[in-house]
Amino acid sequence: MTDLSMGFRTAFSRVRVSMLAVLAVALFGVAAQPALAKTTAREAEGVSFSFEGPFGVFDQAELQRGYKVYAEVCSACHSMKLLSYRDLAQAGGPFYDPKHPNLPPAQSPYAKAIAAQYKVSDIDHDTGDVIERTATPADHFRAPFPNEYAARAANGGALPPDLSVIARAREGGPAYIYKLLLGYEEPPKGMTVPDGKYYNPYMPGDMGSFWSGPKDKVPEGGFISMAKQLTPDRVQFDDKTPSTAENEAHAVATFLAWAADPHMVERKQTGLAVMLFLLVFTGLTYLSYRQIWRNVAH
Ligand code: HEC
Repeated sequence: MTDLSMGFRTAFSRVRVSMLAVLAVALFGVAAQPALAKTTAREAEGVSFSFEGPFGVFDQAELQRGYKVYAEVCSACHSMKLLSYRDLAQAGGPFYDPKHPNLPPAQSPYAKAIAAQYKVSDIDHDTGDVIERTATPADHFRAPFPNEYAARAANGGALPPDLSVIARAREGGPAYIYKLLLGYEEPPKGMTVPDGKYYNPYMPGDMGSFWSGPKDKVPEGGFISMAKQLTPDRVQFDDKTPSTAENEAHAVATFLAWAADPHMVERKQTGLAVMLFLLVFTGLTYLSYRQIWRNVAH
């Protein structure tokens, strides 16, 4: 046996040993995890959205309704700092106008009209004073509180999270948001709900220490510092969609999904085009392979 092949063999067995080590760590790592406190939340099941699946697209009318729910309800407590008013008019957005595809979103009459409803603070360039002025499409969504302390003070110490990317930040995404908004239930008997909190079976949490019932029947879910927000007729839709709490929650979950991933539809369509191209390309490659090797014995 040559030195070279010996070298190969030892190298190979080293690789095998380290692979075994990795496997062992993976197995034991899992087995040796401490028994964590049970945090169970009810699965967000049975909700479907128009934008799911490889061909799914956002329903523009629903995006508009969802923006209305955000603007009239959620924006009282939650900021969406990553969005500007003009984003609402970008391609694929709630107020995009397909009749004017080349109009920059900042010039959109819809974005202008929406921005004009808000005042934002700015600095007067002549005096240096802090002033309030009417928002323009380039301004970010107006935040309800000037800072985190004010936000907490107004919400019993809890911070309403920024909703710009919440649909991607939470497991379950828009389905979770939908279920959470509608999921408020009477707390089961035996549960002590702390002051200023509400029981919601979709909210991840650990109820163990608030539960006096049987230890193996701790209810699913947790406490949330946000009271139930959506009720029938909370928001009047402009397109005659009935103002049920379900429609309000579905629309705002759709809007938040768009906000967190505004290019989702574009990306899916590019993906499909790439797949189609690869399919055609594979066919062409195969045919040219047949052509080249036609008269060659192989
Ligand atoms: C009155 C103030 C208020 C309003 C209005 C409000 N929220 Fe909240 N929201 C809160 C607070 C406070 C929290 C933090 C709760 C906590 O940490 O327990 C919260 C948390 C959330 C969360 C995060 C839950 C999690 O998984 O941590 C989502 C999602 C949410 N709100 C969505 C909405 C939507 C959508 C609307 C509009 C339909 C809305 N909220 C309206 C105060 C509000």
